[in-house]
Amino acid sequence: MAASNEIKMYCVEDSTFCYPSENFQKNALINNNELYNMAKTDGIDFWEKMAEGLKWFRKWETVFDESNPPYYQWFTEGKLNVSYNCLDRHIDEGRGNKRAIVFEGEKGDVVSLTYKELLLEVCKAANVLKQMGIGKGDTVTIWMPMLPETVITMLACTRIGAVHSVVFGGYSPEALRDRIDASGSKLLVTANGSNRKGKEFPMITNAGTIIDECPSLEKVIVLKRTDIPFDLKPGRDHLWDELMNNTEESCSPEEMDAEDPLFILYSSGTTGKPKGILHTTGGYLVGVNTTFRYVFDYKDDDIYWCTADIGWITGHSYVVYGPLSCGATVFIYEGTPDYPARDRFWELIEKYKITILYTAPTAIRTFMRWGEDLPAARDLSSLRLLGSVGEPINPEAWLWFYKHIGNERCPIVDTWWQTETGMIIISPLPGVTPMKPGSATFPFPGVEVDVVDDDGNSAPPEQRGYLVIKTPWPSMLRTLYNDNERYEQTYWSQFPGLYFTGDGAMKDSDDYIWIMGRVDDILNISGHRIGTMEVESALVDHPAVAESAVIGKEDPVKGQSISAFVTLKEKYEGSNDLVDQLKQHVVKKIGPIARPGEIFFTVELPKTRSGKIMRRLLRDIAEGRRLGDVTTLMDPNVIEEIKNKYSS
Ligand code: PRX
Repeated sequence: MAASNEIKMYCVEDSTFCYPSENFQKNALINNNELYNMAKTDGIDFWEKMAEGLKWFRKWETVFDESNPPYYQWFTEGKLNVSYNCLDRHIDEGRGNKRAIVFEGEKGDVVSLTYKELLLEVCKAANVLKQMGIGKGDTVTIWMPMLPETVITMLACTRIGAVHSVVFGGYSPEALRDRIDASGSKLLVTANGSNRKGKEFPMITNAGTIIDECPSLEKVIVLKRTDIPFDLKPGRDHLWDELMNNTEESCSPEEMDAEDPLFILYSSGTTGKPKGILHTTGGYLVGVNTTFRYVFDYKDDDIYWCTADIGWITGHSYVVYGPLSCGATVFIYEGTPDYPARDRFWELIEKYKITILYTAPTAIRTFMRWGEDLPAARDLSSLRLLGSVGEPINPEAWLWFYKHIGNERCPIVDTWWQTETGMIIISPLPGVTPMKPGSATFPFPGVEVDVVDDDGNSAPPEQRGYLVIKTPWPSMLRTLYNDNERYEQTYWSQFPGLYFTGDGAMKDSDDYIWIMGRVDDILNISGHRIGTMEVESALVDHPAVAESAVIGKEDPVKGQSISAFVTLKEKYEGSNDLVDQLKQHVVKKIGPIARPGEIFFTVELPKTRSGKIMRRLLRDIAEGRRLGDVTTLMDPNVIEEIKNKYSS
């Protein structure tokens, strides 16, 4: 328990405002408006100053090049290497023996790597990549569990200038195939299996079925993580351990151009085809380095834990590149919060004396359901800062997190950003910003954000509108891989000159930003982004399905859950068995994260006269609301029928 008010935070009675404690403010890296003022005076100059904190092999000529919008460039002509900035730089500065990664596996196995040791592993892995024929500009797909080797492989790619495409380990082999194909990867790095809740799940044997369908793929490296047997195809497949034990120990970093591609990360869009979001080297690193330092008030003795999987952008930016470029000690856990028991996270915080915890609202709401006794039974006094990301955090969850995990001592940074933005865009600065539970508060210094109406004009306070970013920022996506047209269309066509986020938002009368969720056909299931069209395509792929409409239904824990409305082909009839089959089919096509919570059979789907499915009305039905405007429907009877059947 916190002993005195001095170290307690302070919330005004109705919890509209929560202030960091005096103690936190006093010790914070930033405890006044200097960073905001600096950025307000000159945003470009601000980012240039931030870039000076990294090690460049050659300094840039131009900080920001806006000559060819929306293809903006940052730090042009500058040369640097990401792995050098994440590893060698700290060793050169005398921090080689500091722990870089502390890993605990689900079974309790522990790996601790100092910066020196991590560099050695990364250099070996970089040499292995070279042996596999990978060079600058080649793409490597990484489909791995949460392991130190996953981070090592990513950093090894950056060492030699290869572009990584990490695919979340929970995606199905078919989803993996689509992403390997779209990125033209030459190499796949994977494992024989993963550990999850006491069971072992095969990876390479499952992927075996799709590898032959990927013409670009030449080699596969397999890490043995489980006891699951597997075969290696001679000439193509290699064992991680064998390669790593028989290679050179040093590898000089490739001098990369600031605008050379760093990675592709596939994310869901509003069509069935995932978007290859492309990030480049210099601007991305400046963005994540700066935001990690200031949003998390990073101190040299912090033990930082971000619970996101490396397969998502949060894992890229705030498990790997942000913290390691700051020289932080990063804790990584392989497993889930409920295995072997529901206090696993609190046990780990106690054991490793975690100081900063960055997690998702879904997890927080789950912990709430499990009850406060579990965290109360553990010593969480090492924690000093909490973070939330991925979806709107409801004030109730915010206050629970604040009270039962942070013990009313720890500020909470509710960070809004996207795969596309690369770095945190809206967040409190924990030593400066009075927080409002449920609001992500203000834009990070050097970023300009607004809420606009249908015409792109600033919306008045308290009025709902669209969240836009007004000026380019260093870690923005540069394009969608191989699809400039979709890049321009998706982000730059709604409001000329403004980046459209796809989110609805509101500013209150104190200028605080409140995110209201997506306004497009993208679902947010437990903080994971899934396109309605992706799930619809997976359903229609099943022989029984004629057509489908998928919506996100409000869910008290996951934020949203998937409801699917399905019309069947003539000779098929709806049954529980078919529901199970269809759910399984979606899992096969995409992965367990996209499994529909409910499937509802209907004779017709509600459509406008131009044939567009009106998902909005289906959402009204699923969430038990009165139906919205039905005047544009081709046949209003259809929706009435669905409503009656659904509620019966
Ligand atoms: O809708 C917003 C929501 O997550 C979307 C971005 O998803 P993704 O690219 O997968 O990245 C997630 C992790 C950065 C956004 O468009 N979102 C993210 N953070 C927040 C949020 N919604 C509300 N509050 C947040 N803090």
